Amino acid sequence: MKGIVLAGGAGSRLDPITRVASKQLQPVYDKPMIYYPIATLMDAGISDILLISTEHDVPRFADLLGDGSQWGISIQYAIQERPEGIAQAFLIGANFIGGESVALILGDNIFYGGNGFREHVERFDAGATIFGYPVRDARRYGVVEIGDRGQVLSVEEKPQSPRSNLAIPGFYLYDDRVVEFARRQTPSARGELEITDLNATYLELGELNAVRLGRGVAWLDSGTHESLLQAANFIATIEARQGYKIACLEEIAYEQGYLSRAALADLVASMPVSGYSDYLRDVVLG
Ligand code: DAU
Repeated sequence: MKGIVLAGGAGSRLDPITRVASKQLQPVYDKPMIYYPIATLMDAGISDILLISTEHDVPRFADLLGDGSQWGISIQYAIQERPEGIAQAFLIGANFIGGESVALILGDNIFYGGNGFREHVERFDAGATIFGYPVRDARRYGVVEIGDRGQVLSVEEKPQSPRSNLAIPGFYLYDDRVVEFARRQTPSARGELEITDLNATYLELGELNAVRLGRGVAWLDSGTHESLLQAANFIATIEARQGYKIACLEEIAYEQGYLSRAALADLVASMPVSGYSDYLRDVVLG
């Protein structure tokens, strides 16, 4: 399965910190935000990745992440000229997807805990799979309503009166028809190709599956100053307690077998001395 990270958008809610570098380049404690969604894909066994961002920020992401070969994966880049909707990612990424199934993750979505998404990626066959995560105020999100037998009853984008408390996180799995369905979509009242409309297309066909994420999973928001700080504190707390890092891409690459021990050792030797490289040297290689 291929992976797309959508990391564009205006980021205006974090102004002024996003005037020079986009939201997804901001730190969440000890690493840039974009590391977290990339880690989620790698943990799920996805190593062929397209990162989509603005013309302004693609070069910065490329500076930070390169072509992925240092982690034994592939990262390509594409530009979204204007923020015309999350589903536009499938038009921009059509050639990249090229007849395979694809996972889409939003560049500001941070997941921690549970068993990750690997089993869902491995089990994925056809149709679309979305996830449902209980939140106190679902009105800010896409919302999924799930019936007694696990069937999806409805999906709605930012409803005034949500039919459930299950928000739809920014991680989605689609079969290759997603490109064709996105091509047929028309922009919503706010001028965007809505991801929820795309999910509704699969629902009409009876091919939308929803998986309820357990209470043991953390899905963190990082879109406001408060939630960005809370996310950083959350990561710092767990890392300090356990002594393990979350979303350390070099470590994941090694664990997944994308990097040999020797290649990891070479990579670490080339990194500046910091708490991050100390961790790789002492804990991972140790
Ligand atoms: O985070 C999950 C939610 O993301 C879902 O529950 C909603 O169904 C979905 O519409 C979306 O809602 P948001 O209001 O959070 O979407 P936002 O416009 O903030 O975009 C989410 C991220 O995607 C953001 O970091 C910027 C990026 N983005 C967004 C759009 C519309 C792009 O890169 N390009 C775009 O055109």
